Parts: sequence; structure tokens; C-alpha cells
Amino acid sequence: MPAMTVTAHRPITAQDGCQDPVLLNDWHVVGFASDFVPGKIHPVRLLERDLIAWRTDDGEIHVWEDLCIHRGARLSKGWIKNDRVVCPYHGWEYDGGGRCTLMPAAPDETPMKKARAFPYLAVERYGFVWVCLGEPSADVPLFPQWDDASFLKVHSGPYRYAANGFRAIENFIDASHFPFVHAGLNGVMDQPDRLDPYDVHEVDTGLRSSEVKVFQPFGDARGVPLMAFYTYHTFRPLVAYFSKRTQQADAAANIVSDHSDLFTTFFTAQPIDEKTTIVRVCAALNVQPHPDPKSVRERADVVYGQDREIVESQRPERIPTELRYELHHRTDLMGQRYRTWLRAKGISYGVI
Ligand code: FES
Ligand SMILES: [Fe+2]
Repeated sequence: MPAMTVTAHRPITAQDGCQDPVLLNDWHVVGFASDFVPGKIHPVRLLERDLIAWRTDDGEIHVWEDLCIHRGARLSKGWIKNDRVVCPYHGWEYDGGGRCTLMPAAPDETPMKKARAFPYLAVERYGFVWVCLGEPSADVPLFPQWDDASFLKVHSGPYRYAANGFRAIENFIDASHFPFVHAGLNGVMDQPDRLDPYDVHEVDTGLRSSEVKVFQPFGDARGVPLMAFYTYHTFRPLVAYFSKRTQQADAAANIVSDHSDLFTTFFTAQPIDEKTTIVRVCAALNVQPHPDPKSVRERADVVYGQDREIVESQRPERIPTELRYELHHRTDLMGQRYRTWLRAKGISYGVI
């Protein structure tokens, strides 16, 4: 793809890294909201671009290119003074609107109009900070349980995968790996689930599967055997979700309760580059009584640690979206449709 034209409003560093418009015009999670504390400049990397995130005293989050337009120094090496970012090279100061308010070598002069930072759109939602490097093609996807107070919400991560973000998403929407990668937790290695046929449909919000039934000996933080019915959803190329309806079972996988609970997970993948990803998740559970959030997080740490190891092993690292390069079975329908969906969007970065 040809390099984009650099205009006065675009940093020269925009010529580097990802040039894929589908990804540039999407929202990406770059951290938990709680990561970004006032008075500090936080370096962030997204799609091979270096950014900074910082909060003004009013709590508002700002995400800018990590670049001072004066001589190209990194603002991330600077500091915050009087609610302004100070460049470490010649001390130019930028306010929350990105305007340079002071050039210390000429303190009585009004800085030139072009003396500005390069800000990006940033919003906070579901305890995450989201950034768009271009023009958003859609809003941040909806997390259906977020506003429902009957659900306990538990964030976990960050999990850094030395792997491709689409491979990480595809792993998250894959039910046939449970007995092997998560043996003893989400499946039983000696008795892997036979997966019944399921459907995948394209809906307004992305791709959605019908229910996929699996037995889980340690299906949630309570540590009890469950029959789980997963509905998978890809909201965006790097944001996925499942809703898992669970019924209590015995150790032999017989359902012993008519009552269903819901365990959902909103899964985000921050693409650092084509082969490095930071995963952050938020689970929502309505099981009563609510489990201790710490136990939910500890279980997630184990499960995503197991996923990380296997996803890091996959070759080629960039996901093949042409189906002929790997093998697809009906039990992989969600992953197969995901790849075709990425391909139909015209994604060229992180794929082969
Ligand atoms: S490079 Fe930032 S003030 Fe000179
Ligand atoms: Fe997994």
C-alpha cells in the first residue's frame, strides 16, 4: 500500500507502521482506565505507532502521537507541569487542547499556530481506554452486561502475547481446544466433547454463533462441574465476546439443575504490531452469590496463560485469511467465518 501523504495535521511518523484503513479507522483498547494516573505521561504503542496518554487535572484522557513537532523529540520522555505536557528537548509546553502555550526560549511570544501536538480520538468505556488513529467507522462495540447491576464485572490482564492479534481472537472463539489447552478446567482431555453442528450468522454487530455445548469440570470460579452453552460473537476484528449459559452438572456430565446462569467475557486485543498483542478482558457473571473477584481473576490468569502459550506457537504468525492455507472442519466454523469476515473487510495488516 502506498505511504499516506503527510499533511500539516498528520505527524511525519504516520508514514511508519500500519497503513490499513480498516484498522486505523477502528477503536482499539490501549489500557485499563486505571492505568493512566494524573501527573504522568504514559507511553503507549498501537499498530507500530508510538503514542502518549495522559490526563489533565479535570480527569480527561488525552492520547497524542509521541512526537514534538519542533524537532521530533519524544514527548514520553518529558513531564507534566501545571496541567501541561513539557517536551524534554527545548521545554515547549502543550495544554490539554494540544496547543503549545510556551516556548521557553521566547517566553513573551505567542507560539506559532502550527505549534501543536497530534491528538487522536480517545474514549473511556467499560474500564478501558480506547483510541482511534483515523476516523472511526463505528462506535466502540456494546458490552451487553456492562450496565446491568446484577452482573459482577471483573477485569483481568494485561496478557502480552508474542503473537498476532487475529490469532488471539480466533483462539478466544474456538471451543474445540478446551479439553487439551485447558484440561481439568474447561474440558477433560480423556473425554473431549463431541461438538454438535452449530451456525454462524452475520448480524449488525458482527458475527454470531448459535450455542456450542461443552462440559467443563471447573467451569467458573466456584470450581463446580458445569454444562456450558457458548454463544460466540466477534464485534470488531480485534474485539470479541462470548456469552456462556451454564447449568450445574455432575462429574459424569449429567445436567443436575434446570437453573441457568450467565458468564460473559468481553475480549480485547491491542495490536502492538503484526506479531505482538496485549489482551485485556472483562468478565460479567450473574451467578449468586457473586464469587470473589480475586478468584475470577486468578482463574482467568491461568486460562489466558494457557491460551497465550499455544497462540504464540502458531505458524505462520500472521493469520492466513485465505482458507486454503490451513484446514477447516465444521467444528471450526466460527474461526473459519471469522477469517472470511476479515478478508471481506479488506484487512491487509497482520494477515497473509
Ligand atoms: S523538540 Fe520539543 S521543544 Fe524542541
Ligand atoms: Fe482457550
